[in-house]
Amino acid sequence: MNYIKQEKKMDKPKIADNTPIATDLEKGKQYLWCACGESKNQPFCDYSHVSTPFEPLSFEAKEDETGYLCMCKQSKNPPYCDGSHMSL
Ligand code: FES
Repeated sequence: MNYIKQEKKMDKPKIADNTPIATDLEKGKQYLWCACGESKNQPFCDYSHVSTPFEPLSFEAKEDETGYLCMCKQSKNPPYCDGSHMSL
């Protein structure tokens, strides 16, 4: 038997959901958006990415707003949804 631990290989992030999530954001606050899709605390990072090639995206809310954050992890404008989920 082979007990060698294998590192998780991922070419693309995991799709956490196929719709964006409306998220209350606070002006001036820093957030860590999950880019790998593995977090159990979506849309934010819970450090599950350590076994993946992905890193979270740090961003600051520019105003108090409801942000529509990407959950498919394919957006070209992360952390915000750009509609990429509609072509998955
Ligand atoms: S858990 Fe997904 S980027 Fe950290």
